[in-house]
Amino acid sequence: MAMTQIYDTAELVAKDQAHLLHPVSNLHLVRRDGPLVLARGEDVWVWDTNGKRYLDAFAGLWNVSVGHGRKELAEAAAEQMAEIAYVPTFFGLAAPPTIELAARLAELFPGPLNHVQFTSGGAESNETALKIARYYWWLRGRSDKVKVLSRRMGYHGIAMGALAATGIPTYHEGFGPLTPGFVHLTAPYQYRNGEGLSENEFVAQLVAELEETIAREGADTIAAFIGEPVQGAGGVVVPPESYWQAIAPVLKRHDILLILDEVITGFGRTGTMFGMQQYGLAPDLVSFAKAVTSGYVPLGGVAVTDEIFDVLSEPNRMFMHGFTYSGHPVACAVALRNLRIIEEERLPENAGEAGAYLLGELSKLQERPYVGNVRGKGLMLLVEVVADKGTKAKFDPARNVGGRLEAATRARGIIVRCTNDGIAISPPLTIRRPELDLLAGAIGDALTEVLG
Ligand SMILES: Cc1ncc(COP(=O)(O)O)c(C=O)c1O
Repeated sequence: MAMTQIYDTAELVAKDQAHLLHPVSNLHLVRRDGPLVLARGEDVWVWDTNGKRYLDAFAGLWNVSVGHGRKELAEAAAEQMAEIAYVPTFFGLAAPPTIELAARLAELFPGPLNHVQFTSGGAESNETALKIARYYWWLRGRSDKVKVLSRRMGYHGIAMGALAATGIPTYHEGFGPLTPGFVHLTAPYQYRNGEGLSENEFVAQLVAELEETIAREGADTIAAFIGEPVQGAGGVVVPPESYWQAIAPVLKRHDILLILDEVITGFGRTGTMFGMQQYGLAPDLVSFAKAVTSGYVPLGGVAVTDEIFDVLSEPNRMFMHGFTYSGHPVACAVALRNLRIIEEERLPENAGEAGAYLLGELSKLQERPYVGNVRGKGLMLLVEVVADKGTKAKFDPARNVGGRLEAATRARGIIVRCTNDGIAISPPLTIRRPELDLLAGAIGDALTEVLG
């Protein structure tokens, strides 16, 4: 028996419909149909309140990297709460796990990324990174360097600054005016944006666009470029291998800071501890969240280089940024324990191996007339569906392909993210061969049911 408690599903659903405002959900449909209530988890498995088991192949929201139900994380939280639950990091205060975690992260991040400010999540981390970038230039007497370059299909969270950097129009609709000073570039999405081009030609085109944009806007007005090593929520866009090595030197030449958003890619998901290691990148700032605690408690942060830290810590100046929960001791204690699991169980390595195997299995779907593209890096993958493979036309939203795929996958006991454009997959990094086979099989069957 998987469940440890008895739940009244009907009552929970009714209360949800009456009172819970779900993020990034069709509120009309959730109010009408109710939520799926998940009550228990163990490794890659979760159970709903009726006792039905699902493979959580989205790892919560890309974040439950060590899998569900890890008692050692619950113990780390309980021990810290009993010791002291809360200490701010404002005004030069700090708790031991907060300090230990900053030091541990400085060891884990490659290069001179040795200084961390904590937040409660991804959007706050990106707000922090963007503000630090501007502040850094301001302190260096270059107060006109305020603009931010980002990419279409990029997702950086939905607080106002992070939202302006986010390059997915549906997140902007109705929430304007957007924070000014953000310029969006083309996503490194070869399937649609680099059609008919070799990889080198496509990358050259993206570099030319970047150069033109910098020339038009003026390098003296641009503070930073923010990007995910592999774009996640926008559609698992794995850039051409040479993309980042072509982009990064242009930024450096124009004194534009590189902020890598490692909120999804951090802590193993792509097959290395950080996405930056896949592409040999040396960013100036890195934002992280999600898997730093595997989602057991909210935590995020930004790491900056020695150079930036030295500028920020000039004498006679307060650094007027941070949040009540920056460096929450309980979250930091959980993160320390979580990072130990990720290292001891070699989860980045497993993500690389399991991801390559799953990509191989899912690539077999590419033969089907409605599968346009299958792509992935480590354990972030996407099966993109199209109405017409030749023209790459998208499905008419009226066909509700996303909703039907969601129903078909859940009926087969897997939780993935379904949209009209396909199925995104991001399981816990602990996933092994039998579960990968089950997952690939269920995705294939769900596609057959919905699209033939
Ligand atoms: C790359 C990236 N950055 C930032 C965020 C925002 O994180 P949060 O929802 O914790 O604010 C997300 C969330 O999915 C993300 O994928």
